[in-house]
Amino acid sequence: MATTLAKAESAESVEYAARIEHVSKSFAGPAGQQLVLDDITVDVAPGEFVTLLGASGCGKSTLLNLVAGLDKPSSGRITTDGRPALMFQEHALFPWLTAGKNIELALKLGGVAKSERRGRAEELLELVRLKGSYGKRVHELSGGMRQRVALARALAQESRLLLMDEPFAALDAITRDVLHDELTRIWKETGVSVLFVTHNVREAVRLAQRVILLSSRPGRVAREWTVGIPQPRRIEDAPVAELSLEITEVLRGEIRRHGQH
Ligand SMILES: Nc1ncnc2c1ncn2[C@@H]1O[C@H](COP(=O)(O)OP(=O)(O)OP(=O)(O)O)[C@@H](O)[C@H]1O
Ligand SMILES: [Mg+2]
Repeated sequence: MATTLAKAESAESVEYAARIEHVSKSFAGPAGQQLVLDDITVDVAPGEFVTLLGASGCGKSTLLNLVAGLDKPSSGRITTDGRPALMFQEHALFPWLTAGKNIELALKLGGVAKSERRGRAEELLELVRLKGSYGKRVHELSGGMRQRVALARALAQESRLLLMDEPFAALDAITRDVLHDELTRIWKETGVSVLFVTHNVREAVRLAQRVILLSSRPGRVAREWTVGIPQPRRIEDAPVAELSLEITEVLRGEIRRHGQH
């Protein structure tokens, strides 16, 4: 991936944030090789917000990990515009560091000079609306606040692509709703490209410009929808509900077809 990465960065203009071309992935299982992802082709344009939607176990995290470069495809090719930043369901913050120091660590790893780190960390905390929480330790923060810090830390990496794996799944509905608004705002403000994984149809429609539905066993691109509903959207808006129903029907068909649940 290093060489393709360098190629993407040196290109005069990069027309994609991520390019997933004919990617398949198998894992060794008790019954031999298990095909988890089968011939996935997806592009994410610069500044685009794409959600990957699918039933539990269909291979969403596997695909995101491949895009992150944490694992290699069995076949096919993935290129990204620079190194992506990652955010998971679990905040993965260092509990012995304060919110601010967690962000500063990411800045340090990104080569930001020591003298600039504090100021930049404060700015990022402000961006996720946590001004004044610099000195708070992780255990002093609510679940929603932790995910805000995790988002600020991911943004500290200055990546052009943000990979998010069900980052709000563990939050209550109201906190999740607020964070949807925040993420939409931050996405617009920063121009970052987002590839967001979820099994929640409404969340996918609430956030995305494009929803890509993966089938199960093996994961394939089943269908894709362009979401033209203007932002800001609310999860309870009629057009969001309508499209969610349509997608849920297709998802149900996929699940039935593959004998799951
Ligand atoms: N390292 C691994 N070794 C073997 N099998 C794996 C490995 N990682 C994932 N799998 C298998 O690949 C399939 C897809 O898993 P994955 O975690 O990508 O699904 P998912 O869509 O993210 O599910 P969920 O919505 O529950 O998070 C599962 O059957 C899982 O057991
Ligand atoms: Mg997963």
